[in-house]
Amino acid sequence: MKIDTEGHKFKEGAIQEGLVRWKSPSNIALVKYWGKYGEQLPKNPSISFTLDAAHTITEIDYRPKADDGKLEINFFFEGKPNEAFGQKIEHFLKKHVALFPWVTQLQMTIKSKNSFPHSSGIASSASGMSALVMCLSDIESKHNGEEISLAKASYISRLASGSASRSVFPELAVWGSHNAIEGSSNLYATTYSKEVNPMFTQFHDDIMIISAKEKSVSSTAGHALMNGNIYAENRYMQANQNLMDIIRSMKEGDLEKFGEIVESEALTLHALMMCSTPSYILLEPHTISVINEIRQYRSESKLPLYFTLDAGPNIHLLYPDDIADQISPFIEEVLQPYCVGGKIIKDKVGQGPQNLINE
Ligand code: PMV
Repeated sequence: MKIDTEGHKFKEGAIQEGLVRWKSPSNIALVKYWGKYGEQLPKNPSISFTLDAAHTITEIDYRPKADDGKLEINFFFEGKPNEAFGQKIEHFLKKHVALFPWVTQLQMTIKSKNSFPHSSGIASSASGMSALVMCLSDIESKHNGEEISLAKASYISRLASGSASRSVFPELAVWGSHNAIEGSSNLYATTYSKEVNPMFTQFHDDIMIISAKEKSVSSTAGHALMNGNIYAENRYMQANQNLMDIIRSMKEGDLEKFGEIVESEALTLHALMMCSTPSYILLEPHTISVINEIRQYRSESKLPLYFTLDAGPNIHLLYPDDIADQISPFIEEVLQPYCVGGKIIKDKVGQGPQNLINE
C-alpha cells in the first residue's frame, strides 16, 4: 500500500474551529521489536495485543490563525501545563511538517490524560502518540472530506514511537515485513485479528506493577545498543521464526506453544539487555519471584497462565477468558503481594482507538 506522505494546506477561509477527542490504547508485544534502523524502522517484525484499560485520551481544541509558518500549541497533561511533553510534540510536528503542513494554520490546545498513573512504570508512548495522531488525522479528515486511513495513522504513529504503530488496530497487529505475511510492512502495522482462534481476541493481560520507578535505560538507548550486540543477527532470525510459529499457534488454538514463545520472547528481550555493552538489568527481584510463582502454579494446576515483559520490571499476566475465575485466588493471594501497593491493572485485548466525540 502506498501512503501519501505529502499533506496539503487547508483552503483559506474554509478552516473552522473545532474539537476532536480520541481514546487510544497501549499494546503489549508477544514477539518483540528490539533494534531499529533508519527512520524508526524495525530490524525484525513484531506482533502485539492491543489493550483496552491502559489508554490515553487526547483532545485538540483548534481555531484558525494567520499562517506565519509557526506552530502555536498549548499542551496540558492531566490538567496541568506540561512544557516537556509540549516540546516533544512540537519537535515531532516540526520534523514531519510535510505530513501535516496545515498545523501552522491553526492555534491548538492539546489536552492529554492517561488511564494509568504516570508513575506506574507503564510505557505511555504507544497510547499517547497514537491518540495524538488520531486527533490530527481527524482534523485533517474533517477538512479534506476523506476518511481516516488507519494505515496512514499507523505510519505516522510509527514515526513518533515505533510500537505506537500497532496501537491503531483492534485486537492483534503485526508491524514489520515478513515473507509469509501478506501486506506486512516496515512502514506501518496491519491488523491480524481475523486470522486467529477467537479465544485470542478475548485474552486477559493483568499488568502487575512490580516497580513504578522510571527506567534506568530508555527504550531508545536500548534499541541503539542492539547495533553492537554480538547476538543481534541471530535474534532477528529468531524473531522471524517466532512470528511464524506464534501465528500458527494462534490459528490452531495451541495455547502451550503460544505460551512457550511468549515467555521465551520476554526473557530474550531482557537477556539482550544483559549482554549489551554496557550491560544493564531492568528486572527486579520481585519480577523473578513472580515468574517462578507463575511457572510453579502452571506446572501444578496445568492451567494456561503465561507471562510477558515490556522493557521494564512489570509482569504482564496473559491468560484466556475461560480460566479467569479459576485463577483469580492465585493472583490475589500469591502474586498481588509482590506488586507495589498491591497494584494490578486488569486489562484485556481491546478494540483500538475510539472517537469520543459523536458527530
Ligand atoms: O516503541 P519503543 O521504541 O518504545 O520500543 C518498544 C520496545 C518493546 O516494548 C520492548 C517491544 C515492543 O515491540 O513493543
